[in-house]
Amino acid sequence: MSSSKKSTNVSLTTLQQIKQQGEKFACLTAYDACFASILSEAGVEVLLVGDSLGMVLQGHDSTLPVTMEDMIYHTQCVKRGNKGALVMSDLPFMSYSSETQTLENAAALMRAGAHMVKLEGGAWIANTTKLLAERGIPVCAHMGLTPQSVNRIGGFHVQGRDTGQAQLIIEEAHLLQDAGANILLLECVPKSLAKTITDILEIPVIGIGAGPETTGQIMVLHDVLGVSPITPKFVKNFLIESSNGIPGAIEAYVKAVKTKAFPAQEHSFN
Ligand code: KIV
Repeated sequence: MSSSKKSTNVSLTTLQQIKQQGEKFACLTAYDACFASILSEAGVEVLLVGDSLGMVLQGHDSTLPVTMEDMIYHTQCVKRGNKGALVMSDLPFMSYSSETQTLENAAALMRAGAHMVKLEGGAWIANTTKLLAERGIPVCAHMGLTPQSVNRIGGFHVQGRDTGQAQLIIEEAHLLQDAGANILLLECVPKSLAKTITDILEIPVIGIGAGPETTGQIMVLHDVLGVSPITPKFVKNFLIESSNGIPGAIEAYVKAVKTKAFPAQEHSFN
């Protein structure tokens, strides 16, 4: 495996340039200093302090129990280990329900070391996105399968399969870009829908279970390392083939994203 480049002070401008050049960037979740260091040294451009920590670290069956205290603690840990990647932190379930609460919580994550915050939703988060953007807090809007709404959705299912639902996702993606979102994240949508949205939006789109055409790809770290108890279709274990342990697996993931070898057809939904 050839050595990959350390991510040097990745910013939103870097990600926008990658999109304009028709290239790809790699993202992974990170929850502690040690992995933040390994991932950013291996060339991962975006470290997501995801509320998936509720499932992979804490053993819950959803992300709902994750608190602001959890997110602040893990964001601080990731900040200490990070070597130049952009750090994005999740606003957890019910932490952006009112304007005051949103501003206080987003500010707390930024003070803890995040460079931007991520929140889940469609049209209903447009005002929140505008509120944060106007105050200098960059926003990633998470659409498609939104795990904080798992009880409403009725499970972890692919979204946007029928034409009406796909059209709604496209319209809401536009709305969130217009409201000031800097990145859109699409989880578990058909690859053709992800391609359409990536092509029509100006901002970079990051995909997970959304096919190969998005500008960025993201995975949960524990999935890439094959230690998660469940393995969804879109997951690939990069540790199995690594001859250099965890750093080798992460470098292989970065390379596979950038060369468009991952995700392959078998990791995508049609
Ligand atoms: O919390 C998380 O890890 C996420 C990813 C699944 C994108 O939101």
